[in-house]
Formats: sequence, C-alpha cells, structure tokens
Amino acid sequence: MRLLVTGGLGFIGSNFVRHHLGSYPGDSIVNLDLCTYAGNPANLADLAPPAAGHSAAGAVRKENGIARRYRWIRGDIADPEAVDKAMAGCDAVVHFAAESHVDRSILEPGVFLRTNVIGTQVLLDAALKHRVRRFVHVSTDEVYGSVEKGLSREGDPLEPNSPYAASKAASDLLVRSYVVTFGLPAVITRASNNFGPFQFPEKALPLMITNWMESRPFPLYGDGLNVRDWVYVLDHVRGIELVLRKGRVGEAYNIGGTCSSTNRELVARVRDIMGIGPELVRPVPDRPGHDRRYALDCSKLKKLGFRHKYRFADALAKTVEWYGMHPEWWRPLKGRKGYQGYYKKQYRTLAKS
Ligand code: NAD
Ligand code: DAU
Repeated sequence: MRLLVTGGLGFIGSNFVRHHLGSYPGDSIVNLDLCTYAGNPANLADLAPPAAGHSAAGAVRKENGIARRYRWIRGDIADPEAVDKAMAGCDAVVHFAAESHVDRSILEPGVFLRTNVIGTQVLLDAALKHRVRRFVHVSTDEVYGSVEKGLSREGDPLEPNSPYAASKAASDLLVRSYVVTFGLPAVITRASNNFGPFQFPEKALPLMITNWMESRPFPLYGDGLNVRDWVYVLDHVRGIELVLRKGRVGEAYNIGGTCSSTNRELVARVRDIMGIGPELVRPVPDRPGHDRRYALDCSKLKKLGFRHKYRFADALAKTVEWYGMHPEWWRPLKGRKGYQGYYKKQYRTLAKS
C-alpha cells in the first residue's frame, strides 16, 4: 500500500512513519509536511540520505530498505495543487498535519483554522478525486471538551473549549460530512495526551524534562489539578494502524492511554525520576479556558483487538532517558528565535490573566 502521511515531520507523524515502514515492508510513504516551527527533518534523519560520517543511518537503509520507501514533499495541506500532486498514486491517507498547541491557539487562532479546517477540507476533496481507499483523520479527545466525571464515548456531543479544540472538532465534522454526502471511506481517531521521543519542547512533558535538564523551573498552570490521560506515542501509532486496517468507515475510535493523572501527580513522578527538588516547579496563572479533565472510553478500539504494549512507568522513564541522551535534538529548538518569541508572548499573557 502507498500511504500519504501529512505532518510526518512532527512528533506523532514521525513516530508513525518510522514504525509503519518498519512493520509493513510492502508499504511506502509519501510525507506531505510544510515543516512549520513544529516540523523537524531531524525527526526522521535515519530515513533521509545519510550525511558523511552518519554510518548508523546508512546501516538502517541497507538492512531493510526503509529509506527507499519514504519520501518527504515540502508542501502545505491547504494548497490544493501541492496536495493533488502528493496524493497522486496513493491508496490511503493518514492525516496528522495540524497546528497542535493549545496555548498558541489562544495567542493566534487564525492559523489553526486555516491549517486544521481548510487544510483538512482540501485533503478531503483530493481524497475523493484520487479515490483513496481509506482516509484516517487523526483527532483528539479535546473535541469532547472538559469531562468532570465519567468517560467520553465516540457518540458524545462535541463541546470544544479552545480555538485548537474547536478547529479539530470542525475538521471531525467535515470528515463526517464527506462520508455521509460523498461516500468517502474515512475514519476518525481521537487520542489523549501523547508522550515520547521527538515531542516539541513547548508541550508540558518535554518542557518539564528539558527545563529541568537545564536547571530551569517548570511553569505549572493554575492549581495543577487538571487531569490528563497519557498514552505512549507508539501505542497511539499502533491504534492508528489498527484503525487504518480494520476501522469501520464513518466511525470514530478513541485511543486512550494507561495513566490518568493530575498535572501535580505527573510533576511528582518526573521529579522522582530526575531527582528534582520542589524549587523547580513554579506556579503561574492558569491557561484561559483550561479544560479540567479529559478521560476516554476506549472499549470500541478494544473490540477491534487493541491492547496496550507499553507500561506507563517504563515509557515515562524511557522518555526522560531519551531527552537526556538527545540534547543535540532539543537544545537548538529551544534556542530558536520563534521559540523564544513564543515564550515571551506566552508569559506576558499569563502575567496579565
Ligand atoms: P506537531 O505539532 O508535533 O506536528 C505537526 C506537523 O504538521 C509538523 O510537522 C508541521 O510541520 C506539520 N504542519 C503544520 N501545518 C501544516 C500545513 N499547513 N501543511 C503541511 N504540514 C503542516 O503535532 P503532533 O503533536 O504530532 O500532532 C499530530 C496530530 O495528532 C495533530 O492532528 C493533533 O491534533 C493530533 N493529536 C495530538 C495529540 C498530542 O498529544 N500531541 C493527541 C491527540 C491528537
Ligand atoms: O488531549 C490531547 C491533546 O493533548 C492534543 O490534542 C494536543 O495537541 C496536545 O498539545 C495536548 O494538549 P494539552 O493542552 O493537554 O497538552 P499540554 O502539553 O499543553 O498541557 C498538558 C497539561 O499541562 C495541561 O493541563 C496544561 C498543563 N501545562 C502545560 C504547559 C505547556 C502546564 O501546567 N504548564 C505548561 O507550561
């Protein structure tokens, strides 16, 4: 099968590309990615032509020919021409590309609507034109809004609270409309908070880990009692692969993790792993509209045969270790002008609220 993956230079997309090419030797992947601030060719450096002296990357290429089955096209999902070219000859689409950070959506909602809504519509139109056999739309538990108790099920109303969540909910509804109106063979996945290697260090967990590696404080929003469900990125990827193969057209599937935790509890766990004292946790004003709790009912995915492979405690420890072993990956990202500029704006906004 030839797949068009969008957003394959991002956190989850790059983990998907590597995992999928390793697990399905008959498949190839075209990766359409604009390489925004969140996209990083270094996330798939092992698949790109090896630079002089990179013998490890060369070994991967020889062993299983993965690199020959992978191609990155730099392009915008909201650009119909770029999408048309990239999708030609593809059997299926796995759509990750998005603006994904809630705090940025509060500072600058417009780009979220353009990429997450218009970009998805452009992809859906191309998928109809190219008659793809399957379209997997990668979405989020945030579309259900905050659930004070109980678990969100796929049929629950969508009640998004941030511009990011609203743009994702809008894209979910667009996908649904293309299934009903045009018969597009699409499915939706809705995952909880991912963690693992290659996550951009603006998200809570990699920000915490890398700040502490630099002896800098982690800004804990509000009272720290917001609850998130944590899924290791490769379990999410495995769930998407299952839905790609076995999901029923027109259905949505929740993909949750194995650990529900308040942010304070998460901070305590990571402090424990890294041996960090309380002075490196700095309470700051809350995120506006901060959802109190997400929690997913994943029985539908289980019925498809899904079982988690990764234990939370082990995956968290491995993730901390990965950031420790790869400062050359995250240090340059945090040094970039765009990153520094974002944080200046972010803290001005927090200070005002
Ligand atoms: P990310 O921000 O790490 O990566 C997004 C990728 O999309 C980047 O490579 C970026 O360059 C690319 N991109 C952005 N705009 C583009 C455009 N206009 N055209 C082409 N490419 C563009 O995101 P992520 O955390 O890997 O999330 C991937 C998807 O999974 C998103 O759709 C997100 O909503 C969803 N999701 C994320 C999580 C999570 O915890 N991170 C949980 C559930 C669902
Ligand atoms: O639930 C799935 C969603 O998870 C995805 O759809 C989003 O793309 C992804 O960014 C993530 O959204 P969250 O807002 O939950 O993730 P974030 O890492 O930004 O924050 C996790 C929790 O930590 C949240 O309650 C806010 C809090 N937080 C976050 C940051 C960045 C802090 O306390 N301090 C921080 O500096």
